[in-house]
Order: sequence, then structure tokens, then C-alpha cells
Amino acid sequence: MQITFLGHASLQIMVAGKTLLVDPFISGNEKAKGIIDVNELNPDYILVTHAHQDHILDVEAIAKRSKAVVVSNFEIATYYENKGIAVHPMNHGGSWNFDFGVLKYVNAIHTSSFPDGTYGGQPGGFVLSSEDKHIYIAGDTALTMDMKLIPLFAKLDLAILPVGDNFTMGPKDAVIAADYVGCDKVLGYHYDTFGFIEIDHEKAKKAFADTGKELVLLKIGEELSV
Ligand code: NI
Ligand code: MN
Repeated sequence: MQITFLGHASLQIMVAGKTLLVDPFISGNEKAKGIIDVNELNPDYILVTHAHQDHILDVEAIAKRSKAVVVSNFEIATYYENKGIAVHPMNHGGSWNFDFGVLKYVNAIHTSSFPDGTYGGQPGGFVLSSEDKHIYIAGDTALTMDMKLIPLFAKLDLAILPVGDNFTMGPKDAVIAADYVGCDKVLGYHYDTFGFIEIDHEKAKKAFADTGKELVLLKIGEELSV
């Protein structure tokens, strides 16, 4: 599994010969300008954790161009289905065996309305299992006791956790989240994009290192292999 950080909470995951995008927010991200070209992304699937602008901004344009299937909760999937986009609706606790692997839509503590006020259902995250690897994409979330369920679903190789604080958990809570989900290797996301979520990288990494864990913070465009 090859994971590329596209900035903010946007990821590209190449797995089992398929390309997945997660929460594409690229055209509105000043920090991704000149590094990621939204017109060059050609996913087979777009995974959407929740309906906030900083997670869905480029979903419609990319899906219409690439014919990607949008995978999200029922409300978000229906919203895109009504725009003529192919979708796969899921909801919390459900798993589905896709042609790239198994996805499970899991709980997150956050909110989820579309920018126009349309109800976006309850926010979530994904556990992705493929090619004997398991990763957890938390989405925007607080630290929550529900994370203790994740090790019952999969023995994770990587946890992708928000660390920007203010709108989600910050580094201190993310260290505890890593414990709850049973994974010592964490890829941080949802930080530094705008003022409210700027973090001190070295301090955040030290908080993880102090408990024997690793926090990876990729530059936009950088890759990580799992
Ligand atoms: Ni959000
Ligand atoms: Mn967000």
C-alpha cells in the first residue's frame, strides 16, 4: 500500500492495482498550490469521511472527470448520487469487500453538514484492509472510547490521525488514540492548513516518541509505504 499525503486531510492510496482518494481538498488549499495538480488525480474511488468543505471541496469535479465511485455514509453518498455520480453508500459498523480490499466505516466524534447546510449524516472514519495490511483513517474526530473497538476489527499497521487540535484532537490526545487503536505508528494529518490548526512539529513528535510511538508528518506530495 502506497500512501501519498496531498495536504490537509487528503490522501491518495494505491492498493491492489486501484487508486483511492480520501477527502480531496486540494484546489482550496494554498499549501498544496504548485505541488498537487487536482486535474492529474484519477482515482477509482473517493472515500469521504464527512461533509465539511475541507474534505469534500474537490469530490464532485474529480468524480465527474474520473468516473470514480464515491464511498461514504448514506447521506453523503445520496448527495453525490443526486448529482449523477456513482456511489457506494455505507454506514457505521458496516464492512464491504471492494475490488481493492475491505472497508469498514467506523465511528468518529465530530459534525458533518455540507457547506450549503445539507445534512451530511454522522461523520466517520475507515478501516482499510488489503494485501495483508490494515490501516485506520480516523477522519476528523475527538479522542473517543470507540477507538478501543478498532483492535477488535484489525491489527493495524498504520493509524492516520488528525493532530491539528481545535477542530479535532491534538497531539496529546492522538497519543492516547494510538494506544486505543493499538498502533504505534501514526501518520498525522489535518494540521497546519490554516491558523487554528498550526502545530509545533517537534513537540508533537516528541509527545509520541516519549511513549515509544512514532508520529510521521509528511510534506505535501510525500509518500509512505505500508
Ligand atoms: Ni470536519
Ligand atoms: Mn476538517
